[in-house]
Amino acid sequence: LDVYVVAGNPISHSKSPLIHQHFAQQAKQAIHYGRLQPELDGFAKAAKTFFAAGGKGMNVTVPFKLDAQALADHLTARAQLAGAVNTLLIKDGKIYGDNTDGAGLVRDLLAQGIVLHESRILLLGAGGAARGVIGPLLEQSPKCLVIANRSNAKADELVKLFANLAATKEVALESRTLADLENSEKTPYVFDLVINATAAGLSDESPLSAAAVANIFTPSSFAYDMVYGKTTAFMQQALQRGARISDGLGMLVEQAADAFLVWRGADLAKQIDPRAVLVKLR
Ligand code: ATR
Repeated sequence: LDVYVVAGNPISHSKSPLIHQHFAQQAKQAIHYGRLQPELDGFAKAAKTFFAAGGKGMNVTVPFKLDAQALADHLTARAQLAGAVNTLLIKDGKIYGDNTDGAGLVRDLLAQGIVLHESRILLLGAGGAARGVIGPLLEQSPKCLVIANRSNAKADELVKLFANLAATKEVALESRTLADLENSEKTPYVFDLVINATAAGLSDESPLSAAAVANIFTPSSFAYDMVYGKTTAFMQQALQRGARISDGLGMLVEQAADAFLVWRGADLAKQIDPRAVLVKLR
């Protein structure tokens, strides 16, 4: 039996084993998928031990995505762009690092009927979660992608890092501070899609002030929070403006689907049904 795990700390709450069991059933694949909780400073050792014992693949979550990137012998192009690894696999005796988070977000948005081509997108946050989704969002050729963060420097860095891809895809890629969003001269547009990739939701805060909310949302906006399991303060603000909202559970399922296909073969894509799995999780 091929063995896979999700590694994180903490990990007991992870839905990944359940999600992958569903995919394995749908695709009639006999696999074992478990949980691994390395010590906070022990990821590399735990991962090496897992692969040396014959483990086939690993999903990686908080706080080990940078450790996983450092561990990998080779990185896929999208993992390099994301600056982090959420999926490890063994090929020809080498450990490969991939990142399916951004592809998962894009697939969830498209499945929810969101049009990304020529759209105006606002991405809140400039940390690891934000960086992981910028490449796949740019690939969809939106009209603009504005990255807004508390501190200017990190958003500016991301704009520089993705400038070439943005130019190729003819996307206006810009940075703002969160404070700029309150000012209609500094942010003179509303957005079709606002994605919260900050860690603010974890502490029940929203990155947006009331003035920013009034400036950037319309009733036809779509607000997406990458966290799941609750209606965050950010989602509540969007609801009050009449916008549609989504949590990030669909992204979790879709990034898992992509990892499953990376491990078990892209030809299984027709046999798995991430949207049916999502319904079962809700
Ligand atoms: P992650 O991997 O989850 O992205 P991270 O790399 O530490 O974690 O990044 C956290 C992001 O959330 C950053 O953009 C951070 O903003 P700063 O760069 O200004 O620190 C943002 N963030 C965290 N708490 C926030 C809050 N209460 N309001 C607004 N932004 C917040």
